Amino acid sequence: MQIHKLYTKDDLASFGLTGALPAHVGIIMDGNGRWAKKRLMPRSFGHRAGIESLHNIVRECIKLDLKALTVYAFSTENWKRPQQEVNTLFSLFIEFIVKEIDELDANRVRIITLGDLAAFPDRVRICMENASERTKNNTGLTFCLCLNYGGRAEILRAVRNIAASGADPASIDEKLFSDNLYTAGLPELDLVIRTAGEQRLSNFLLWQAAYAEFVFTDTLWPDYKPENLRANIIEFMKRTRRFGKVVE
Ligand code: IPE
Ligand code: IPE
Ligand code: MG
Repeated sequence: MQIHKLYTKDDLASFGLTGALPAHVGIIMDGNGRWAKKRLMPRSFGHRAGIESLHNIVRECIKLDLKALTVYAFSTENWKRPQQEVNTLFSLFIEFIVKEIDELDANRVRIITLGDLAAFPDRVRICMENASERTKNNTGLTFCLCLNYGGRAEILRAVRNIAASGADPASIDEKLFSDNLYTAGLPELDLVIRTAGEQRLSNFLLWQAAYAEFVFTDTLWPDYKPENLRANIIEFMKRTRRFGKVVE
């Protein structure tokens, strides 16, 4: 159960990370299938390699002392994949949590899931619920796993919840709406990274990405290393975020 030391100011400076780090990073982990194909291996081989990348990237986010990391693990559209691939992904989600939970908990990581877990087999749902319950009081990195997540489904769910609450339409503002999303209480999404060359959101954090910065990299997810994350964060830090204002 390794406890990871936070990077010191000097460590960060040696990486070139001298400004304000993003508080909340979202990652669309893409390219597992292509990574396996290049090796003439089945897609499941790529997903397994992808879990190893996730292991390394979560640790890097702990050391960087980020507030939140949200990873896209299974979209509402991923049900369209062959059942065998979907089952492999379920098994890998469970394996990941079982292997990682002690260390993540020891490092004060709070695990939450974004998405409708009810559609998953009990074994997946219960594993995720237990991980969230066990880590719910942790105050370090919030690690959000998007599982059966879709931005549109999330928005519809918020609309339904608000309508069911009988709220006066005039009282519905952005704060109330955000409070009804899975990401309620999390810091604003600062940076979205997508691996494997595609330049689209694929239904990831639609509301939350309103003012996020985007970094697209050709690196396939199983090849994505902590140094890639640091390089992508440096790219983020070079951007001028205007939020509609005039910035000299
Ligand atoms: C991302 O890799 C993992 C999930 C969507 C679960 P892909 O499986 O989409 O890999 P490619 O895009 O086919 O290479
Ligand atoms: C997005 O990747 C979903 C996840 C990373 C979980 P996809 O590979 O499913 O997205 P598309 O099909 O290229 O849009
Ligand atoms: Mg893909």
